[in-house]
Amino acid sequence: MSKPKRPVSSAQRGRENADPDEGVRPLPWFLVMFLGAMAMWGAFYIYSTPSGEDSAYGDQRTVETLRPPVLTAGAVSQVDGKQIYGSKCAACHQATGLGVAGVFPPLVASEWVVEDEKILTHILLHGINGEITVKGVVYKGAMPAWQSMSDAELAAVMTYIRAEWGNKAPPITAETVKAQREATKDRTEPYKGGAELKSAS
Ligand code: HEC
Repeated sequence: MSKPKRPVSSAQRGRENADPDEGVRPLPWFLVMFLGAMAMWGAFYIYSTPSGEDSAYGDQRTVETLRPPVLTAGAVSQVDGKQIYGSKCAACHQATGLGVAGVFPPLVASEWVVEDEKILTHILLHGINGEITVKGVVYKGAMPAWQSMSDAELAAVMTYIRAEWGNKAPPITAETVKAQREATKDRTEPYKGGAELKSAS
């Protein structure tokens, strides 16, 4: 005789886990379509985006933008003489232009700075290596040549030292520098001092 079945209450059934079942549960069709559309759009995007051209976003500077501006004769006003002085001259002649006693001559009220523009240009183009008397004091040092600076840069820094610290001499143009560069182009060594500067200029 079979045992009588015990009645199963719905509360009991509710506590049971669902029976495990095998089989593939397909992804919902809309998800499949959505993923397919995304993949196709991605492929299309990569295919249609131009490569090797300027990016439409981000850093839009081109090589041209980054190239330093070409300094022409007329561009003196764009060159900052003070800034050049600070980076190239102040180490020796000091920001005050007073130099260092006995070692680096002063530019303040120096006859070499405020008098003959040609001689000043020659000093900067070729440097000095020998005795030079500045405001009654003899210096025997060496001043490097600054030929590598452009005409406009040299003009700007000379114009700066001629008008700073109470100096009052007229500006020097890039044309003057250009002409003096040409006139002294055969020189390969620094001037041997104040005397040679005067006689050669
Ligand atoms: C490495 C140190 C040094 C630097 C940098 C230097 N000078 Fe000189 N400068 C000297 C010395 C030293 C003399 C004196 C040369 C001598 O005794 O023969 C001199 C002399 C001069 C003179 C003539 C004398 C006078 O005092 O007026 C001028 C003008 C001058 N320098 C301008 C400049 C300018 C402008 C710059 C920057 C572009 C510059 N110097 C950078 C060391 C320097």
